[in-house]
Amino acid sequence: MSTTLHWGIIGPGRIAHKFADALAYCDHNQLVAVASRSQQNADAFASRWQLAHAYDDEAALLANPQVQAVYIATPHNYHYPAAMRALKAGKHVLIEKPACVNAAQFARLCELAEQHDCMLMEAVWSRFLPYVAQAKQWLADKRIGEVQSIQSSIGIAFEHGPEHRINNKALAGGAMLDLGVYALSLSQFMLGQSHTAIQALGKLSADGVDESVMATVQYSGGQLAQFATSIVSQQQNALHVYGSEGTITLEPRFWSGSQVSLQRGDDIQTLTLPWAHNGFEYQIEDMARCILVGKRQSDVVPHRDTLAVLTQMDEVRRQIGLYYGDEFEKV
Ligand SMILES: NC(=O)c1ccc[n+]([C@@H]2O[C@H](COP(=O)([O-])OP(=O)(O)OC[C@H]3O[C@@H](n4cnc5c(N)ncnc54)[C@H](OP(=O)(O)O)[C@@H]3O)[C@@H](O)[C@H]2O)c1
Repeated sequence: MSTTLHWGIIGPGRIAHKFADALAYCDHNQLVAVASRSQQNADAFASRWQLAHAYDDEAALLANPQVQAVYIATPHNYHYPAAMRALKAGKHVLIEKPACVNAAQFARLCELAEQHDCMLMEAVWSRFLPYVAQAKQWLADKRIGEVQSIQSSIGIAFEHGPEHRINNKALAGGAMLDLGVYALSLSQFMLGQSHTAIQALGKLSADGVDESVMATVQYSGGQLAQFATSIVSQQQNALHVYGSEGTITLEPRFWSGSQVSLQRGDDIQTLTLPWAHNGFEYQIEDMARCILVGKRQSDVVPHRDTLAVLTQMDEVRRQIGLYYGDEFEKV
């Protein structure tokens, strides 16, 4: 088997360019194909990244035997159907966050991944970043004693119009799936436990997506994680882990930063740990490494974590009254 993993991209939008840029940086990984809904977009993307294959049809990309792994970067409600087709075609799959609209859909993808012997991972790139690894190490070393709670906020006052996917219910927009997913995923990553209870309140937009949500999750060890997320307010965007002997803080932009601090009493140690490239390289390298050694799940973003976070988001949405409709929620 070749040690170079050949990739295709489905959904050549904004984030797909960042992914292609990271792929170009990674050894043993090569982007060879792109699929768009239009040949013009596919050609423009392929020309920018010098790709051999540009398709106006996802099925053509999936039929290309050179493509071993696909990165799915479409709007949220198109992740599940595209991933299903990719797994059935025998491709390894990396899906942008949130992996699916709901937990039942991701559970189905896990079954398909097993049936077709494919790697499946949600692209929660933040979990791989060096400052997050540092925070995990401090937690493992008990530098803040026993963890009691986590507080985080992730809010950006976007200026997009109503048609933009973030504001658009028909593209499974809203704060929870787009931004809140990071608060839940990183809180879970820090605690390493399953949740036992959730309480949430939210405000829906005129279009029916969640503009703002505040929620508290309780975990099996009794710890609490409280978060706020919004697409209409600029928030502090920090994540604090509170322990019996101190606090670990990730800020600014706790999901995409490089700075982490440890506070014990009046003593504060702050480290800046930059990314090797644009931050996406770590998840790509992890995926390629797993595939090379025959692993089908990442230790950093295992299926159970993605399932747990989607289950939590299902419950938050149930409590705030946000359902995307049978067409997008069906399995
Ligand atoms: N990891 C991160 O830091 C990060 C940051 C931003 C976004 N994301 C995630 O990445 C995904 C894509 O976000 P994005 O900001 O890149 O979105 P985007 O710029 O709107 O790109 C999405 C692409 O999907 C394709 N697409 C397929 N079906 C579509 C449909 N029905 N409507 C609209 N576009 C459709 C479009 O390409 P064609 O028209 O060429 O088919 C479009 O360019 C989302 O899951 C988002 O949450 C991740």
